[in-house]
Amino acid sequence: MEECRPILNTGLRGFSVATTKISDVDGAAGKLSYRGYLAKDLAGVAEFEEVIFLLLYERLPEKKELSELKSRLAENMHVPEVIVEALKSSPKDALPMDILQSAVTMLAHHDPDIKEHSREAAMRMAIRLIAKMPTIVAAWGRIRNDRSPVQPSPELNQAANFLYMLKGEKPDDEITGFFNTCLVLHAEHSFNASTFSARQVASTRAHIYAAIAAAVGSLSGALHGGANTRVMQMLLEIGSVDKVEGYIEQVLSTGGKIMGLGHAVYQTDDPRARILAPMSRRLGERTGDPTWYELSRHLEEKGKEAFKRKKGKEIYANVDFYSASLYYYMGIPIDLFTPVFAVARVVGWAAHVIEEQFGGAASKPVLYRPDAEYIGDYCGPDECSFIPLDKR
Ligand SMILES: CC(C)(COP(=O)(O)OP(=O)(O)OC[C@H]1O[C@@H](n2cnc3c(N)ncnc32)[C@H](O)[C@@H]1OP(=O)(O)O)[C@@H](O)C(=O)NCCC(=O)NCCS
Repeated sequence: MEECRPILNTGLRGFSVATTKISDVDGAAGKLSYRGYLAKDLAGVAEFEEVIFLLLYERLPEKKELSELKSRLAENMHVPEVIVEALKSSPKDALPMDILQSAVTMLAHHDPDIKEHSREAAMRMAIRLIAKMPTIVAAWGRIRNDRSPVQPSPELNQAANFLYMLKGEKPDDEITGFFNTCLVLHAEHSFNASTFSARQVASTRAHIYAAIAAAVGSLSGALHGGANTRVMQMLLEIGSVDKVEGYIEQVLSTGGKIMGLGHAVYQTDDPRARILAPMSRRLGERTGDPTWYELSRHLEEKGKEAFKRKKGKEIYANVDFYSASLYYYMGIPIDLFTPVFAVARVVGWAAHVIEEQFGGAASKPVLYRPDAEYIGDYCGPDECSFIPLDKR
């Protein structure tokens, strides 16, 4: 009999747990591709809606298909009034990712396909979720400040619509284009923590809302999507370029982490960071306040040098590093950075849920069910004997 190889305390790094056709992350080469297309080739040229089509339907859309998808998204952007009312009655200081997670679950109550387990129903539900999540995040951004939500505008694309619903003003073409590129770059990233959460829930045949609510919870963590918010908090805390080296020294000497640096898969530049950085530089110039871009650039350079010196190895900026200053320049509130990430990543999550449930990966058992090695030693090698409460 083949002996089982122990896979202990690795956090599953380096182990493939399933096959996928959705995306590929080549950590050594620093390459990310969606359905065969390099993300760097899509960035700046593809509309987010084209990427939604690509990830869900496995090919780029033709003109008519793209326009049909846009109409379907526009038809589905509105959020049921009871959910808006629930947001209004939530504490104003509730964490935005918690609000989003609850709202995703509430959306399930209103979806006519919720009891149908079929690929077609899952596709329809995916479109509804992709359309409604930006509306929820933007609405919460206003409701918590005692402002009325702004209704989505059917003639705007996803990128412009989100910023319009958040701020009440239509963004110009440059900002729309940059935000569109951010959405494209955040749309998918293979089996990261939140996607794996979604797939694991989907593997039980739970519906797509349950899987995506789990993914939202996973993304909220500081080491995952929550890092972009923390990058900006870190930049504000550092405050100026002359304090960068002191900050790095203090963090590295106390075993802390420089947020936005390091990645579980990339061993070279994260290709997304290299596309986001010049956009941050441009918005620094445009707003007349280059501080946050300059600080990031300096922190990246000095952080890399210090890491190499102390740990003897390389570290690189990840996707969250420059998206932080970029979103800040766009006027997005810092604690909405991670929900904005979710607004893009829901596309990848949805594609993965559908692949997990209907992709027909023949070699994988239906459910994910790993083992763990029990190391409890409460009563030596034997089981403990139960002692009734009055005898303990
Ligand atoms: C993303 C991350 C969890 C990937 O981690 P990983 O590849 O599993 O590597 P580990 O967390 O095991 O770290 C390996 C070593 O590098 C150090 N390290 C990793 N990222 C670091 C960072 N950003 N700052 C300082 N030290 C870092 C760890 O402390 C660890 O040191 P040790 O070997 O002395 O214990 C990690 O780089 C991190 O926490 N980065 C900051 C948070 C972040 O930006 N997250 C967004 C990811 S897209």
